[in-house]
Amino acid sequence: MIYKPLDINILNNNFSNKIVGRNILYYDTLTSTMDKTKLFAENDEAEGLVIIAENQTKGRGRFNRNWISPPGENISLSILLRPELQQLSYINMAATLSISQVIKEYTNIKTSIKWPNDVKLNGKKISGILIESEVDSTELIYAVLGIGININFNPNDHSEISNIATSLYKETGKIADRTNFLISFLKVFNSFYIKIKKHQSLTKQWASQLETIGKNVEINSSGNLVKGKAIKVTESGDLIIEFPNNTRKKITAGEVTLQST
Ligand code: BTN
Repeated sequence: MIYKPLDINILNNNFSNKIVGRNILYYDTLTSTMDKTKLFAENDEAEGLVIIAENQTKGRGRFNRNWISPPGENISLSILLRPELQQLSYINMAATLSISQVIKEYTNIKTSIKWPNDVKLNGKKISGILIESEVDSTELIYAVLGIGININFNPNDHSEISNIATSLYKETGKIADRTNFLISFLKVFNSFYIKIKKHQSLTKQWASQLETIGKNVEINSSGNLVKGKAIKVTESGDLIIEFPNNTRKKITAGEVTLQST
């Protein structure tokens, strides 16, 4: 694989009049872009900061799982956002919708979203999202949106994830220009974020792309496996599950992992 660094100058020239990307910082190696972005957040950095790393020594996923992404091949970034607390649930929706839109533009293949925030292409995961936030009683101080998108790596080289992961390269056979992909993604995400700031809902659009609705699912809740059917999502993106005895339960993203059966 030819290691072509992201072009930080082109990136920085595209976002001076936008919220997201008004400041883009590019690092060769970090523990995690999440940690670096939080340091800026705690030092009063304005929202819209994007931190990109070619290599993360401790890249993490949801539930503190390890995030596998070989240096220089994919996109690993975090974005500092300061929405209102009640807008937080739309951040995940904006991220998955933006990634889906740009992947569709690149591949002409329709993606699907596995609740709450995995983007899948041809049935395999191409992107994961992690949101970590700081809340002070009723106020959101900041949210860090972390995004990993599999662009040019070959999942077959990584036996731990080769059955469940895919990449743009694997699906199209072509090496993609990561800088162009990133510019497209940040622009689309910025427009969704502006909608959120204007108090617009993204739930309907997001829910229409969820593959999970109508499926039988297994919920891993604190080590217990419970089976039910995914019925619908609430306005804030929680999933309503119906059990065989017709009772329903609302589950939130932070609570459980989900397997389609
Ligand atoms: C998941 O699917 O569990 C979420 C994966 C999120 C990975 C990204 S890569 C950039 C950012 N930095 C991290 O350490 N994690 C997120």
